Amino acid sequence: MAKRIGLLTSGGDAPGMNAAIRGIVRMATERGMQAVGIRRGYAGLIEGDVEPLDNRAVGGIIERGGTILRSSRSADFRTDDGQRRALATVDEQGIDALIVIGGNGSLAGARWLDANGVPTVGIPASIDNDVPNTAMSIGVDTALNTVVECLNRIRDTAVAHERAFVVEVMGRHSGFIALTGGLAGGAEIVLLPEFPVSLSDVAERVLAGVKLGKRHSIIVVAEGFVPSDEPLEGRSPAQAVANHLEKIGTLETRLTILGHLLRGGSPSAFDRVLANRMAEAAVRWLDDERRGVMAGWVGGAVEAVPFERLDEPCRNVDPDVLRLTDAVAH
Ligand code: F6P
Repeated sequence: MAKRIGLLTSGGDAPGMNAAIRGIVRMATERGMQAVGIRRGYAGLIEGDVEPLDNRAVGGIIERGGTILRSSRSADFRTDDGQRRALATVDEQGIDALIVIGGNGSLAGARWLDANGVPTVGIPASIDNDVPNTAMSIGVDTALNTVVECLNRIRDTAVAHERAFVVEVMGRHSGFIALTGGLAGGAEIVLLPEFPVSLSDVAERVLAGVKLGKRHSIIVVAEGFVPSDEPLEGRSPAQAVANHLEKIGTLETRLTILGHLLRGGSPSAFDRVLANRMAEAAVRWLDDERRGVMAGWVGGAVEAVPFERLDEPCRNVDPDVLRLTDAVAH
């Protein structure tokens, strides 16, 4: 009987998830396997919410953001009962192996399933780029391009009005989008969760820019940044930075929160290629009875990264890139 491969998308969606779904289904067909889509991530696995997917079902989706399978952050999957029901669905649906597409939380779930008897492979997809041992996750490149597009527009008005703009981008625990988007978008200052600085230091740097003849300033703040000298007291970090700059009065200041704008949109060429290459590897590994690994992007190729290596720290936020971003901002 044909091997049945289940696939699901879980956690925060990321542009390119659909390209991965399409790639998995078509590579499974190519290898004589059957693909079964599980809707709404682990919630659908618990509830048995599945649909067989053939090549035609995944036509016309490579260019679409979001995920046709939909996604969720399932609290139930963390309970004994939820886990028991998820394993029961795998059994009842005759699913032989699973591919999980998602970020750190989703991949931890994939690891649990693999350890509990379901041959599972992971594909990293999260705009945060905080999955260890993969230089890129699906969705990151598209999100970065959106940041750059937004910063270009913000700079137009910042220059016209000689203002400071504080721009908050996603990244609860990771400053990758803020750092890389800030470098690519020509930000004057980037503020990251990994490198706390004080609000007074930020103000001094804006002032130093003014003294150098800069009449505007773009400050990109990661959602997870915490200033070292002032409690947030319910404010977002970008709000705290903007409040402080307004108080100092160096430049008139405006605040923009990009938020979920960064999660949507048609995936970039890079994300589509990455998604297809990871999809191909994941299907091939399961066909070869290989399991318990994530498709990592390492040195420009897809590599099998054992799930245990997800315990290692993520090194994608590079202090050298932060130094470079600061150095080219003067
Ligand atoms: O993990 C991806 C991410 O977009 C983070 O950057 C952000 O903090 C979080 O998800 C937002 O989650 P939600 O969409 O559930 O509010």
